[in-house]
Amino acid sequence: MLKLPEDFIFGGATAAYQAEGATKEGNKGRVAWDTFLEEEGRFSPDPASDFYHQYPVDLELSEKFGVNGIRISIAWSRIFPEGYGTPNPEGIEFYHNLFKECHKRNVEPFITLHHFDTPEVLHKDGDFLNKQNIEHFVNYAEFCFKEFKNEVYYWITFNEIYPVSIGQYLTGTFPPGIRFDFGKVFQSMHNMMVAHAKALIVFKSLNNPGEIGIVHSLETRYPYTDSEEDKKAAHLDDVLANKFLLDATFKGYYSEDTMKCVNQILAANNGAVDIQDSDLELFAKACKDNDFLGINSYQSSFIRAYDGENDIHHNGTGEKGTSVFRLKGIGEKMFDMEIPRTDWDWLIYPEGLYDMMIRIKNDYPNYKKIYITENGMGYKDDFNDGVIDDQPRIDYIKSHMESVARAIEDGVNVKGYFLWSLMDVFSWSNGYNKRYGLFYINFDTQERYPKKSAYWFKELAETREIK
Ligand code: BG6
Repeated sequence: MLKLPEDFIFGGATAAYQAEGATKEGNKGRVAWDTFLEEEGRFSPDPASDFYHQYPVDLELSEKFGVNGIRISIAWSRIFPEGYGTPNPEGIEFYHNLFKECHKRNVEPFITLHHFDTPEVLHKDGDFLNKQNIEHFVNYAEFCFKEFKNEVYYWITFNEIYPVSIGQYLTGTFPPGIRFDFGKVFQSMHNMMVAHAKALIVFKSLNNPGEIGIVHSLETRYPYTDSEEDKKAAHLDDVLANKFLLDATFKGYYSEDTMKCVNQILAANNGAVDIQDSDLELFAKACKDNDFLGINSYQSSFIRAYDGENDIHHNGTGEKGTSVFRLKGIGEKMFDMEIPRTDWDWLIYPEGLYDMMIRIKNDYPNYKKIYITENGMGYKDDFNDGVIDDQPRIDYIKSHMESVARAIEDGVNVKGYFLWSLMDVFSWSNGYNKRYGLFYINFDTQERYPKKSAYWFKELAETREIK
């Protein structure tokens, strides 16, 4: 039987915008998602999980169920409602109280500074396409490093630079809802990496006790067949989603192969990216100082060569079989393999997580340690008189935990796993209809109920044995 190490963190992950609610309380500034959701009318960011008021309950439950780490993000617009300028005392006080409560419950906080929620004022100004906003982000990060230095040891600059950039400029599922602009995708990813490098350099200069890292969404791309065309397509999609960011993070430059692929994708889509020498100097300086890498992993992809036009249909309804993802000059995602998938067409393939961890160890040997900062299964949970039998979620977590344990046995330094999500939160894809939590939430009453997976997780955390 596989067993996890003694000092392993069994955590739960959340994000401010998806958990807190209270978007109009505490002098919080608006974020672009507020307007986007109002215009689309899909769902409301309030009440979310009402974490703004319920966090003592969620942390008490965490302690009770063996959860000894929590990933939370700070809402930038609670600290600086306009993104910069005068800090907001109510926001600062809220996070002091929250972090203190984590320690009271022996739950180690891992704090993300940016989880998809740039303040609206800066977003309207071009978000990370505008270099001035890099400076605003770094100032906000520095403020937090100083203000919360006694309560926060683990810092994460960004959550998932690739999904946020393609959501904004390729699939159009994130504000501002632009589609198929590959130049903007690469520019946004590059500029966010510059912001990461700058924030990391500032953090190290402060000599605060603590560690800093970044969270990337890293999902393995496999060729659909053994043909050279499919192998090439899978490689191009991997560069777009994984290698571009991993090179910048750990090599400190974009390798020749990476830039060749980037230029090929851009040429096929009439795009361009501006990379300055001074940016690369920052990467070279910062790449040695990432204390950890956070990996978010939900699925893997099988890619086939494709020579048609861009064509995407995002399955945001949980109607299995409705996803289409075809990228001009890259390839298309295939879904007809004998591999189980969720109702949202996410392939359940734990081998992909194992392969990614081994790849990090081999290709980026200067990584120091890894946390799985998100992994979990979106599921339409049934609530039966307070009993929530989510066996498919248990099977999902178990198989991915096994990948983690095997990777550790094979020499990868993995120090913790954070389940997405601690309690139910709304999903960017499907609002309140797609649940992930260990704790079920009745969103009308805000009552919490442990699911079957919560009892399973508790035993895992106590024994460290994956059964
Ligand atoms: C990750 C994000 O991309 O996936 C989370 O960091 C998100 O914020 C999670 O909720 C699941 O995705 P979705 O679209 O189901 O909410």
